[in-house]
Amino acid sequence: MLSIQNLAAKYGPSQALFDVDFEVGAGQVVGLIGRNGMGRTTLIKCLFGLLRPVGGSIQLDGGSIVGLPPYRVGRMGLSLVPEGRQIFPTLTVEENLVATATAGAKGKQWTLAKVYDLFPRLQERRKNLGTQLSGGEQQMLAIGRALMTNPRLLVLDEATEGLAPVVRAEIWKVLARLKQDGLAMIVVDKNTKALLRLADYNFILEKGVTAWRGTSAQLAAQPEIINRYVAV
Ligand SMILES: Nc1ncnc2c1ncn2[C@@H]1O[C@H](COP(=O)(O)OP(=O)(O)OP(=O)(O)O)[C@@H](O)[C@H]1O
Ligand SMILES: [Mg+2]
Repeated sequence: MLSIQNLAAKYGPSQALFDVDFEVGAGQVVGLIGRNGMGRTTLIKCLFGLLRPVGGSIQLDGGSIVGLPPYRVGRMGLSLVPEGRQIFPTLTVEENLVATATAGAKGKQWTLAKVYDLFPRLQERRKNLGTQLSGGEQQMLAIGRALMTNPRLLVLDEATEGLAPVVRAEIWKVLARLKQDGLAMIVVDKNTKALLRLADYNFILEKGVTAWRGTSAQLAAQPEIINRYVAV
């Protein structure tokens, strides 16, 4: 479904990605792993048209999406749960969800009722403003909002960062449910253990270069790889 080849990206003179290959198959969950500053968010920015790559190709179902503005990428079925959540603080939970709702490439599957079924806590808080939510509730809202665009590829950048263990566990459970429903995902997360339980395949970035790629079973069997590229 998604194929990235030889991707290169720069911020001014400093290069953040070098010749990165990255693929996601339909319905596949792919982990994007690496320590802080290794280029994970940069790859995601390139994917969503938020940063123009200086080299390489990004193809969705065989067609190039390089140079498309973010809203066009969204219409093609990609949806982002960004680092830091970025919900609308002055809108209510329900307004946040409705504000971004679009039909999506596969038609309209997600409704308010379905999002509330996934996150009952959001229904209880539906009249509350974004600013009145806990970190966990904001994260649930960010995921719910992304789902309201009816994506076929959901990208989560550090979605469990800074959350209490019980909330984190709930988010992982929801992601497992979305996977079961056939939704493809790219997941960036520091919790490698939980990530490997969810992901089918993984790419490890080290200083903007692909340092390792393979299945979750292969990675789980090689703790030395995790220690080298992830553990601090
Ligand atoms: N807006 C920017 N301007 C200049 N350099 C940047 C910018 N954003 C990121 N960088 C640099 O690019 C490199 C990759 O950053 P990136 O945000 O992709 O890392 P990351 O893997 O997502 O890690 P983290 O989220 O922990 O920062 C880093 O060296 C970072 O300092
Ligand atoms: Mg990042």
